[in-house]
Amino acid sequence: MTMTDLSAARPDAADPLLTIEDLSVAYSRGLGRKPFVAVPQLNLSVGRGETVSIVGESGSGKSTIGSAILGLQPAASGSMILDGIDLRAVSRRDRKRLQSTLQAVFQDPFSSLDPSRTVGDAVSEPLRVAFPRMPRAEVAERTAAILARVGLNRAAMTKYPAEFSGGQRQRISIARALVLEPKIVVCDEAVSALDVSVQAQVLNLLAELQREVGTSYVFISHNMAVVRHISDRVVVLYRGRVMEEGLAEDVCDRPAHPYTRSLLASVPVPDVAQQRERRLARASAVTQSGIEPRDGVGCPFADRCPFAQPKCVATTPPLVDVGNGRKVACVRIDEIPPADDVPGLDEVPAAVSDATGAP
Ligand SMILES: Nc1ncnc2c1ncn2[C@@H]1O[C@H](COP(=O)(O)OP(=O)(O)O)[C@@H](O)[C@H]1O
Ligand SMILES: [Mg+2]
Repeated sequence: MTMTDLSAARPDAADPLLTIEDLSVAYSRGLGRKPFVAVPQLNLSVGRGETVSIVGESGSGKSTIGSAILGLQPAASGSMILDGIDLRAVSRRDRKRLQSTLQAVFQDPFSSLDPSRTVGDAVSEPLRVAFPRMPRAEVAERTAAILARVGLNRAAMTKYPAEFSGGQRQRISIARALVLEPKIVVCDEAVSALDVSVQAQVLNLLAELQREVGTSYVFISHNMAVVRHISDRVVVLYRGRVMEEGLAEDVCDRPAHPYTRSLLASVPVPDVAQQRERRLARASAVTQSGIEPRDGVGCPFADRCPFAQPKCVATTPPLVDVGNGRKVACVRIDEIPPADDVPGLDEVPAAVSDATGAP
């Protein structure tokens, strides 16, 4: 299987599993200071069996969105409806019962896997919580079955996380997240800590399990090349705001927003000539424009945008539909030169996609 096959069967985005409307998430900054609004008024939907990626550089608010969905960080306002369940109304106690609907995989399997518990214990836990009366033999069977699906044999059940490689530990986290066949999994930088070849294996595994189980993914990553190949749709975030969203191939291969272009310009490419081209693109993208948004009004990217004009900060650019499900928040979108097809992005995962098979 090649990486480009991963999003071949397009799910129905018109029948959303998760609908987020006007979500704001803020962090308190202590007494007497206004909270920091990391994500203001986000709208996002995820279809059944769909992979929607949230991409953006570090600090753009990606994990904050994931934390809000998972109930780890409270929302300040807005709504999140998951398969008819009002996520904001779910109490901390009732969160456990959501485990068969909503799961997560994080970047660092060490922090999500308790080092003092066996793999069998960790992977079977969601099962034992959801079905307290399930016979032990059946728990063991189902645990072994999901471990087999992620390429680990039964013997893994009695071992400890430290006995496995990083890629294997991430497979264990995925097994744990999928043992209840949840409707949706939030994957926050789930492959970011892995070697490039292991990344491809884990991405392929996620896609395979999605085809079998019909799970949706909210896939959070700073890496455009990874996102290009796992996603049906991509949402580009900058300072908590959506700059652009659309089908993965549209956003990644023909980026419209200047911010998306600058993100793509920082994807590493092997070819020297292309590297030089990218460096030039990047250099122009980070030039200070001198045009600053003030007090949350105006395009948040204006101060770094090579195309910025005073009108960019007069009001906050709305996300405007430009066709084919793509939306762009840029008031100059019809005036700036179109981005050429992005060279080289396919080459990054091509190197990645050579790696197949289990570790
Ligand atoms: N626990 C926290 N307390 C205060 N500020 C936070 C906290 N977590 C994240 N932030 C801030 O919120 C913004 C978004 O962070 P985050 O969602 O982690 O971004 P990303 O995942 O895209 O790197 C950043 O400015 C970050 O400093
Ligand atoms: Mg993060």
